[in-house]
Amino acid sequence: MPKLFFGIMFSMGNNSFGKLFTITTWGESHGPSVGVVIDGCPAGLFITVEDIQATLVLRSCGRAYTSARKEPDMVEILSGVFEGQTTGAPISLLIRNLDTRSEDYLDQKNIIKPGHAQFTYLEKYGIFDYFGNGRASARETVCRVAAGAIAKKILDVSGIKVVAFLHSCGNVSLTEDFSILDTDSLDVLRRKSPILCPEEAVSNLMLQEIQKALEEKDSVGGIVEAIVYPVPSGLGDPVYDKLSANLGKALFSIPAVTGVEIGDGFLSSRKKGSEQNDSPYLKDGKVGFLSNHAGGIVGGISNGEPIRVKVSFKPTSSIGKLQKTVTIDKKDIHHSFIGRHDPCVAIRAVAVVEAMIQLTLVDALLLQRCSRL
Ligand SMILES: Cc1cc2nc3c(=O)[nH]c(=O)nc-3n(C[C@H](O)[C@H](O)[C@H](O)COP(=O)(O)O)c2cc1C
Repeated sequence: MPKLFFGIMFSMGNNSFGKLFTITTWGESHGPSVGVVIDGCPAGLFITVEDIQATLVLRSCGRAYTSARKEPDMVEILSGVFEGQTTGAPISLLIRNLDTRSEDYLDQKNIIKPGHAQFTYLEKYGIFDYFGNGRASARETVCRVAAGAIAKKILDVSGIKVVAFLHSCGNVSLTEDFSILDTDSLDVLRRKSPILCPEEAVSNLMLQEIQKALEEKDSVGGIVEAIVYPVPSGLGDPVYDKLSANLGKALFSIPAVTGVEIGDGFLSSRKKGSEQNDSPYLKDGKVGFLSNHAGGIVGGISNGEPIRVKVSFKPTSSIGKLQKTVTIDKKDIHHSFIGRHDPCVAIRAVAVVEAMIQLTLVDALLLQRCSRL
């Protein structure tokens, strides 16, 4: 029975993100389909199914070192697009779930799965969709990436580019600073790697790290880095809707995220002011900055320098290694999870990080148009 609180049942609200350009996602991992409604998209934007499909490839599973669940992720545009252009009406996108294998989850029904949302959902709602973890599943993120493809089209009009890539995997990290590269070159480099890591030698070491974890029936965490450039100054509002705050919320809403850093992030707490400040200088009569420790955002507002973000992901919770846990009917047990899982969720999360940044920036861009006469 759902929990009652003063006679009111708890509902799973807050499935929307954004202020002017909003997305509302729906659907469960093993339901017939998942989808997203995008509201507030300006009319006159050219968009095709192929545009969305091309973006979904970056998040797809079934590739090496990702979950063996092979979803074709074919998107259907149900509304809001007429003769290839957005009409200003809500855009509805649907993606069918075709490779669910729900029977694999039957033996987990009574087990509290370490690192998963099942316990907290049961505490809150009194009911949990144990088939693929229902709404808690990262299957939901396919909707964010589909919506991100539309956001990307709007950013393209303003010349804003976002590129995310795998920065680290377990104990293996990039050895070079890729944030200084232009976003187009970065995009080419990351696509050469099956795990979207732009440094070839490091990508190979990361693959070994994941392989080792798999052999140990374990998983590894990772860091996704993202660069936004070119980007205009002026995006973001000064108090509660700081661009940094909205990016933080957008990125922390992705499953398995354990930390978000903007610019030098936590490292800045160990520096002196003289080391952290980005000194302005004049170039052809315009103000530039000699460094970018702030990561392109000051006072909650973009300053025109590249926006640099890092997002940390925990190691995948579902592992084959035997772990201690308890059953819902209160018995001590040890359990190992057999099934199709990402050994490092950060790989497929690269596309999700990119999409959440794109959605946040489009919202800020549209809001920016109302900020000054
Ligand atoms: C792209 C992506 C894929 C994921 N795949 C898996 C997976 O295969 N197995 C798993 O246990 N967790 C996976 N996760 C993470 C879980 O959804 C998440 O850890 C779980 O719902 C608990 O939520 P929390 O970690 O945010 O607290 C994935 C996350 C992302 C972003």
